[in-house]
Amino acid sequence: MGSKEFLGYWKQKESSGQRYNDLEFYSRKAREHINYIKDLNCEPVADLGCGAGELLSSYLNQDLKIDIGLDFSQSMLSQAKKRIGNQCNLKVGNVLDFLPELNSKGWISTQSLSQYLDPSELNILVTRFKENRHVESLLLFDTINYLNYYNLSISGSRYDSKIKQQNVKQVIRELKTILGVMLSLFKHIFESGKSHRKISTSMGYGYLPVFFKKLADENDLDCKMFSSKYYEYRYHVILSKKRND
Ligand SMILES: C[S@@+](CC[C@H](N)C(=O)[O-])C[C@H]1O[C@@H](n2cnc3c(N)ncnc32)[C@H](O)[C@@H]1O
Repeated sequence: MGSKEFLGYWKQKESSGQRYNDLEFYSRKAREHINYIKDLNCEPVADLGCGAGELLSSYLNQDLKIDIGLDFSQSMLSQAKKRIGNQCNLKVGNVLDFLPELNSKGWISTQSLSQYLDPSELNILVTRFKENRHVESLLLFDTINYLNYYNLSISGSRYDSKIKQQNVKQVIRELKTILGVMLSLFKHIFESGKSHRKISTSMGYGYLPVFFKKLADENDLDCKMFSSKYYEYRYHVILSKKRND
């Protein structure tokens, strides 16, 4: 299973490695997520893959009701414990093993499960979601759209603004950018038929929206998707059980 490889990567890390590592960024992201959670009225939530707790502590500071945070990396959870103390229960282990016994009304996961679970594990996640009678909504925040991720080299996001003079370094840099663009176009042409792709050990998987649409249809779940506000190549997936009323 994919989880073993990713546990190897995360087991000694102490930071989630988000784009900006400052309180203002985490607080804005938390606010963005909380709006979706409040709309669905699905508190308390379980934070699946809560990591070092940067976002978790911003959620708690903004009064989101969280009853448990889970992560398979002890070093990440130790940092989370330092940040949040006893404000919520933290448990170490593979998220998939805990799902049947959770009592939360919402399951949330940011840059975790939709990134570090392979397609068969995502199927297990959704099966456990359907089987757990307490939970109503599963929110997979900041899922990577791998085609948009490849676009980063086309849009020049990797341009280094510190290099100002026309010198050998800059020429090499620009050649690399052109190669990056060609590689992106190649990937668009030859891989757009795939609904998922492993990017790397650190980034995990990227999934296209069609993957979740199909998963939801096969499991008779409602599925909504929204662009992420702070990452141009990520989107939020919200799966909910259909109501009978
Ligand atoms: C990029 S960090 C994100 C942490 C946090 N959610 C955030 O957004 O700041 C990804 C975390 O997911 C955890 N993780 C990935 N797959 C997991 C799994 N199957 N079970 C438990 N934790 C997992 C990793 O240990 C890591 O701490």
